[in-house]
Amino acid sequence: MTYYDRVLEAANAVRKMTGSATPEIALVLGSGLGGFASTLEDARSIRYSELPHWPQSSVIGHEGRVVVGTVGGKRLVTLSGRCHAYEGHPLATVTFATRVLGVLGVKTFILTNAAGGINTSLSQGALMVIDDHINLTGDNPLVGANDERFGVRFPDMTEVYSLRLRQLADAAAAALGVPLSHGIYAGLLGPSYETPAEIRYLRAIGGDAVGMSTVAEAIVARHMGMEVLGLSCITNMAAGILPQPLDHNEVMETAHRVRGRFVALLGAILDRL
Ligand code: HPA
Repeated sequence: MTYYDRVLEAANAVRKMTGSATPEIALVLGSGLGGFASTLEDARSIRYSELPHWPQSSVIGHEGRVVVGTVGGKRLVTLSGRCHAYEGHPLATVTFATRVLGVLGVKTFILTNAAGGINTSLSQGALMVIDDHINLTGDNPLVGANDERFGVRFPDMTEVYSLRLRQLADAAAAALGVPLSHGIYAGLLGPSYETPAEIRYLRAIGGDAVGMSTVAEAIVARHMGMEVLGLSCITNMAAGILPQPLDHNEVMETAHRVRGRFVALLGAILDRL
């Protein structure tokens, strides 16, 4: 069975289990944000393990569910839990869910993540709109034979993160009085955090924040013609910026602390879509 056929099978399973018109908006919930899915009304929640071919994630803080429901009258599909390349998955696996959502007809693809702050104008707990990314994972999800049913061989990446959606996020944040930064997301493989020398390098090449997800999903979403918005929660300052070591618990604690503000911002963005 081809990759495309596996994506179709999973998409058909989601369609069958949710039994309704497919939402045009998808929201990928990063570390600590999985709880947002419980705010959906008329929700149908599907465990990843119930879906054919769907990859499982093993990381703490990622629970593994597709939820289809309504927020503020809009139909939405959320993914709580994603799999990462650092777990040993090929990028085709990492982006399987993105492919399924594209095939289901999602037009607006919102990615959230936890990231380390490189730019010292960011602080722990800040929220950042991703203006662009630098793919330093050493890989690309489009490597291999191109399936034209998904998109073209050489997709344009001039505006991965939609200007319209970035401006819409600003308007939503301003209306709420929530401070919202902007910056460039440097995507690395992980799973070890960066060294202070690597962080100085990332700053020199224009990185404002660093993380281990998002770039592969954003590339695939653009490949399929979806409009992408990326939002980072700066859960910690990157290595060497503060005189203290990094710790995944700190990442989770900050994500949890900021959750209320992040959820409010997401709600205000969804309202404006
Ligand atoms: N580096 C990489 N990924 C991250 C970080 C970080 O400092 N914080 C949260 N995800």
